[in-house]
Amino acid sequence: MAGSGRGVFNENAYTVVAIAAAVMFAIYKLMWGSLRLPPGPRPWPVVGNLMHIAPLRFKCFMEWAQTYGPVMSVWMGPTLNVVISSADAAREMLKEKDQALSSRPLSRAAARFSRNGQDLIWADYGPHYVKVRKVCTLELFTSKRLECLKSVREDEVSVMVASLYNECAPHKAVNVKRFLSAMAFNNITRIVFGKRFVDDAGKVDPQGVEFKEIISQGMKLGASLKMPEHIPYLRWMFPLQEEEFAKHGARRDSLTKTIMEEHRLHSEKHGARHHFVDALLSLQKQYNLSETTVIGLLWDMITAGMDTTAISVEWAIAELVRSPDIQAKAQQELDQVRLVVGQGRVVTEQDFSKLPYLQAVAKEALRLHPPTPLMLPHKATENVKLAGYDIPKGAIVHCNVYAISRDATIWKEPLKFRPERFVEEDIDIKGHDYRLLPFGAGRRVCPGAQLGLNMVQLMLARLLHQFSWAPPPGVAPESIDMTERPGVVTFMANPLEAVVTPRLPSSLYTR
Ligand code: HEM
Repeated sequence: MAGSGRGVFNENAYTVVAIAAAVMFAIYKLMWGSLRLPPGPRPWPVVGNLMHIAPLRFKCFMEWAQTYGPVMSVWMGPTLNVVISSADAAREMLKEKDQALSSRPLSRAAARFSRNGQDLIWADYGPHYVKVRKVCTLELFTSKRLECLKSVREDEVSVMVASLYNECAPHKAVNVKRFLSAMAFNNITRIVFGKRFVDDAGKVDPQGVEFKEIISQGMKLGASLKMPEHIPYLRWMFPLQEEEFAKHGARRDSLTKTIMEEHRLHSEKHGARHHFVDALLSLQKQYNLSETTVIGLLWDMITAGMDTTAISVEWAIAELVRSPDIQAKAQQELDQVRLVVGQGRVVTEQDFSKLPYLQAVAKEALRLHPPTPLMLPHKATENVKLAGYDIPKGAIVHCNVYAISRDATIWKEPLKFRPERFVEEDIDIKGHDYRLLPFGAGRRVCPGAQLGLNMVQLMLARLLHQFSWAPPPGVAPESIDMTERPGVVTFMANPLEAVVTPRLPSSLYTR
């Protein structure tokens, strides 16, 4: 009896699956049949290509693009994703068709975090977006404000150099990311909130503890949504932890409001300072920004501006540990500048114009290891033709900047770390040359690109000038593991360990 019951169940299940597949096929034909969609791997019913996408998506898409071409369809459940993998197609996406492709798809988590796109990162392209973007361009990221905040950056890099110096010992390998991440954290909280939550002895104050917990809770919540996120009609089986999201949002708002109030009181007594929180508070009325938007913008800057810079420097140092000749050449240039500007000081941002090779090293690291290899996802708000294919309204569009900057048809020896290529040809990195797009391009180009680049170059300049970098004892330079960790931002899968040796007089290592 039991056996025949299972048989009936199986028959029913097959029938349901067959009907579902037939219905989906009919819907597919109805919706997409008349369109010339970009080619791509054959999708399965319900899940599309989800089962075949490797954890390192940008690498998997780069391989698939070899077969299907630079404009490719990938189905995540029933949602069409178009992946762009050539400089020409990127130009079309980010320049010619930019306006129609400048919105964002909202996952359930992003919708909760951003209060349905009331911030900048997750806002759809429209009047709200244009307004907050204007605030960024005209107010937050002006050269004047970046100049005013220079002392913060330089101070935080000095703190990092001093703590690294204290850990140096012959043959002792240190975890490089630990220093870079601490620096990036203190730097961004000071720029955005005007706060250093960590004292000189490394002790985190109660607000800092709360701040770090909010960040790590946010990451956990974001990571808790997996496959069903892509298949809307299966989401009911995996309900969102609504209470946890609400609690997280409330904690974040409460801490931010306390900090905002502190700044309000300080401004009333002593005038506004240059931190982003001061700027946004004083502009709130002029631009008609809701409190939710101010909080959203502050957190956007924290999330987008923290890891990206630390990641870039870690990859750059890893490449330089693997290539001692290139490291020596960069150090020679830095030594030369010090001869000119005087022995009694370390390099500053003012010296960048005399350091073309250092700038080339930073660019080459960002070319080979863009921290956000698929940029952030864009969404089509109308039907668009791209490279002769139809991209229907609602499709998600990714630009694989990782694949483009390793494209052998545009880069000589694309996999080789060779900064000289940027000395031979001055290639823009901030969105004007579609061969090199670590910051994106067009309407949604990273508003923090100049700040990010300054940070990366300054960290690299000080770390290279003041220290020599070598592999841990017994490890050959070429065997440093350069594998990426899956995620929206790509850390090294195995954080870099290096032996760090001071190169300058000890007086130059104090804060
Ligand atoms: C090396 C450092 C950085 C890299 C490589 C980087 C890269 C990017 C990329 C690729 C995008 C997405 C562009 C797109 O969707 O088309 C982006 C967006 C963004 N970045 Fe950066 N970024 C860096 C540093 C920063 C910093 C320091 C900040 C702020 C303090 C920042 C704030 C933002 C914001 C707010 C957005 C969203 C822009 C929008 O949606 O309109 N980034 N960034």
